[in-house]
Amino acid sequence: MTTIATASKVDSTAIAGQLLEARARTFLLVSPLTDEELQAQHDPLMSPLLWDLGHIAHFEELWLTRNLDGPVEFVEMPGLFNPFEHPRSERGALRLPRFSECRKIMDEIRGRVLDRLAANDFDPSNPLLRDGYVYNMVLQHEYQHNETMLQTLQLKRGRPYSPAARFDSPAGAFSLRGTAPRGGMLQFPGGAVEIGTRDRTAAYDNERERHVVELAPFWIDRDPVTNGDFLTFIAAGGYSAREFWSDAGWAWLTDAGARAPMYWTQVGESWFTRSMDRSGLVEPAHPVCHVSYHEAEAFARFVGKRLPTELEWEAAACWDSSSGTKRSYPWGEQAPSKDLANLDQLSFGTRPVGSYRLNVSPLGCYGMIGDVWEWTSSDFGPYPGFKSFPYPEYSEAFFGTEYKVLRGGSWATRPGAIRGTFRNWDYPVRRQIFSGFRCARDV
Ligand SMILES: [Fe+2]
Repeated sequence: MTTIATASKVDSTAIAGQLLEARARTFLLVSPLTDEELQAQHDPLMSPLLWDLGHIAHFEELWLTRNLDGPVEFVEMPGLFNPFEHPRSERGALRLPRFSECRKIMDEIRGRVLDRLAANDFDPSNPLLRDGYVYNMVLQHEYQHNETMLQTLQLKRGRPYSPAARFDSPAGAFSLRGTAPRGGMLQFPGGAVEIGTRDRTAAYDNERERHVVELAPFWIDRDPVTNGDFLTFIAAGGYSAREFWSDAGWAWLTDAGARAPMYWTQVGESWFTRSMDRSGLVEPAHPVCHVSYHEAEAFARFVGKRLPTELEWEAAACWDSSSGTKRSYPWGEQAPSKDLANLDQLSFGTRPVGSYRLNVSPLGCYGMIGDVWEWTSSDFGPYPGFKSFPYPEYSEAFFGTEYKVLRGGSWATRPGAIRGTFRNWDYPVRRQIFSGFRCARDV
């Protein structure tokens, strides 16, 4: 009975379909590019796009063939596409195969993966295979590399990237505009809140274990900080007011010379921005994007607030205080999609705050998933009882005070790579990522 139930939970045909769908998206994203554009390193922060493609394939080969057929040998395959052997800044000098060759390698590996998958081996005694975990891990890896590739495409040198396909605006997308007041803060009552997850089918090791924390009451912004809010900060001289910046933030600002979010340019009195091949006036109603942690923190000080901790963020996104229960997503249990939130890449940019009617948490916060990743004040660290799985280099190697946690995914995140408990992390100076924020305040 249990065996049948366990076996039926995993559907190899569905997994094969997801793997094909993920690959189709990867190829769609790169389809407008020439071989030279795929080979080039467009920014020292990013890999050549061909490296991402080769790396996606080799990660898949390692985890869906080698490490299943033999002992778990490597964290990453040795060679050209091993991120630890070749740091990003050096990947421009690697001799990468041409796209046609790279595609052949990808197809060959995928063929072996599908053959193995067809054998329906989800041996519950193997934690990699149980509930199809390792397939979800590899899928998410490809999804996450797609978002990284979009950072590269936005940074692309030469002619701007022109997407092969775009979503239309969702039906009724802008129904909240003008009908509901925006902005303001909501009070979270505090108390015992469950953080993290028990899920072992898709969640990463750093999201476990689920544990109870006692939170003090706090205020949190109903909406992400908008471009309009941020224009006020700029107009008030926020970038030259030392008092709003931490020491590290001021050092970054002095060095980077930032005067506005990345990709913003001032022409006369007006601010313009660009997303891929589309440029226009900065739209005040959109969430602000491409800001560093330091800029987020300075803005929060400017308005007399602070950034939320990641625990506060998760409580505001998923905890229902009235019933003492936790949702998987702000809107409930329904799997994320482009219709619920600004996710899945093909919007190629943010959308006005309030555009997604159902994207509201039990507390009433809008847009905690989608549009922009939200900086939190938390360092990236382990939850109580953390056990690294399936390899320490996924999370554990990054624990410490160097990285800040971001939550909630962005327009460039695929729906299968985001959930209420998902923890992203990056250096506080980074802003080529699709990052924004919302503020909090003590009660
Ligand atoms: Fe990777």
